[in-house]
Amino acid sequence: MPTTIVVGTQWGDEGKGKFTDLLAKEMSMVVRYQGGHNAGHTLVVDGEVFALQLVPSGVLYDHIVPVIGNGVVVDPFVLLAEMDMLSRRGIDTGRLRLSGNAHLILNYHQQLDALHERHLGKSKLGTTKRGIGPAYADKSLRIGVRVQDLLDEMIFREKLRAALSHTNKVLTKVYNRLPVDPDMLADKVLSECLEPLKPHIVDTTDLIHDALEADQHVLLEGAQATFLDLDHGTYPFVTSSNPTAGGACTGAGIGPRHVDRVLGVAKSYVTRVGAGPFPTELTDSDGDKIVDIGREYGTNTGRRRRPGWFDTVMLRHAVRVNSLTELAITKLDVLDSFERLRLCVAYDIEGERTEKLPYHQSELHRAVPIYEDLPGWQTDLTEVTEQGQLPEEAHGYLRAIEAQVGVPVKLVSTGPGRSQYVHYS
Ligand code: IMP
Repeated sequence: MPTTIVVGTQWGDEGKGKFTDLLAKEMSMVVRYQGGHNAGHTLVVDGEVFALQLVPSGVLYDHIVPVIGNGVVVDPFVLLAEMDMLSRRGIDTGRLRLSGNAHLILNYHQQLDALHERHLGKSKLGTTKRGIGPAYADKSLRIGVRVQDLLDEMIFREKLRAALSHTNKVLTKVYNRLPVDPDMLADKVLSECLEPLKPHIVDTTDLIHDALEADQHVLLEGAQATFLDLDHGTYPFVTSSNPTAGGACTGAGIGPRHVDRVLGVAKSYVTRVGAGPFPTELTDSDGDKIVDIGREYGTNTGRRRRPGWFDTVMLRHAVRVNSLTELAITKLDVLDSFERLRLCVAYDIEGERTEKLPYHQSELHRAVPIYEDLPGWQTDLTEVTEQGQLPEEAHGYLRAIEAQVGVPVKLVSTGPGRSQYVHYS
């Protein structure tokens, strides 16, 4: 019953898609377990760039069943547009399976997301405005509409009316906007989405268990990351789902005993989009250099990402909350031209050194990173595909990360292309 979870260990955009794609070769099924089209996975295949938001990365392999699990929130129009884009580029999306228990993101969720952000003013979270938070909020309020509701027109209309009897009050009375007509929305969704989505809607939990019982390899693909987790991240500057390994079990419908491998993906430096604490943030020319070389702009929103040095305090915490068994370090080549690299090994909080992530978030805001400086390799790594070709300084950097967090690095990415990586041991 081999299951692998791929999880981000920072604030997202670690390059999980690349290693999900690589591991997919050995898998039969790739399952997205949380989030929605706030995610952006970029894959470069034979020089061709694929930017995926909802469809699991495994779709690019013919032998894989890509699954959108129950924990995901799905905008049906976005999903259909993405499937159409893939079909036009010769990718078969007929194998895609969509959980009937996944919740729908509808136009009013996106409207509420934008209104809520505007209402927060200076305290805004910097969400992707994709309606993620409001859709998960409706799920918790138990007024969400699920994918399976599409299959019963009467139920679908009834649930939309119930949801909107609440939401329309918020739209009109709190935000002074026009109400959404539930029947017009139902007409649009049913007429445009039902037929094309129907063949894909199944009980994905059953499907995943059948695969596991047949000893097939299943990969659970996380979106966002540990520090954007609703419970374990830097709340409230987080997303509204659980990207951590526990969320993978809930969002796919499997128990933890099925999981034998948890791969944590970390970028060789850190970035974050949107607001929130960030101890190793760089606001100097080193930061600009990382953003320029690493092309650190949001796949979906185009926003500039905030850059910073690698933080092993955070990674140690990510190791614990996810039970990481191994690490993949991405974008090592982005550091090629740096003379000196800084690894945050602890924080100074008002004169006290701590190697643990502070429990109280006000302390995280005040944390001053304590760095170990390491020499850069100042060599182009983009052609490196074997461990032996890595310069001594690059080994030094990777070994220092391993030593700090106590988990082995198994994969290292040296460029955006599918073949630009090293198996590390
Ligand atoms: P939401 O997920 O759109 O509600 O946004 C909440 C926070 O998560 C914001 O700070 C976003 O920038 C961040 N976020 C959401 N998805 C991603 C992602 O895929 N990569 C990086 N940050 C993300």
